Amino acid sequence: MSERVIEVGCDLRDGAILPRMEHAEIVDRVMEQGQLLLLKGVFPYEQLADLRGAVAAWGRETPPADIDDFAGNYHRRRCMISRLQQAPHVFHDYNFNDLAAASPALESKLRGLFEPLRGLYNGLTGAGVEFEIPAAGPYVHPQLIQYPAGGGFFARHWHNLLPQQLGFIVSLSQRGRDFRNGGTCFEIDGEVIDMETRQDAGDILIWRYDHHHWVSQSDLRDKFDWDSEAGRWVATFAYFDPRG
Ligand SMILES: [Fe+2]
Repeated sequence: MSERVIEVGCDLRDGAILPRMEHAEIVDRVMEQGQLLLLKGVFPYEQLADLRGAVAAWGRETPPADIDDFAGNYHRRRCMISRLQQAPHVFHDYNFNDLAAASPALESKLRGLFEPLRGLYNGLTGAGVEFEIPAAGPYVHPQLIQYPAGGGFFARHWHNLLPQQLGFIVSLSQRGRDFRNGGTCFEIDGEVIDMETRQDAGDILIWRYDHHHWVSQSDLRDKFDWDSEAGRWVATFAYFDPRG
């Protein structure tokens, strides 16, 4: 069997993500060959720590939401069971559907991560996404997710392949430094792949969006505190139409 996890060197130059592999080959490996592509070391650690800190601070001064606002900026402390798939989960998500409504400092830090991701996504899929809400159809939902220390997790679930096609998971924190344990797991062709020890801070994981996946639980011996920044942070680039 071919290797499941393929590591690819990558540069970030003038806001453009430049993998050392052709876009067509990345798409073929992820979509057709059941591989997980790991673009290594794309974002510098200091940038990620700065972004995490800014988003956590915004979360402390902004009351948590009780419902999703797919047109605005909000964060939610989720301790729930998803309605259709009945997947239990505990995490804190921070959503920026209106980047221009964030403070200039926060907007700049968010764009420092999400604009390069937008370019990569458009380059791979040809979707031509922008950070604007169209009159109809799908659009991108920039999101950071914090799996808090002391029990953050997300049980097995899956998504429709379309319109997303390719998913991105950007690791924003470093195992052993910022968090003790926990990571994304996949099942592909009956095989379980655990990315916990494979994905470092700054790496972009590219995966086919209909693979079943879950997030292993952070160690319950650690203290759980919704107000704390502690835990494992990731960024995602979900593309869907909440009105559809
Ligand atoms: Fe998911």
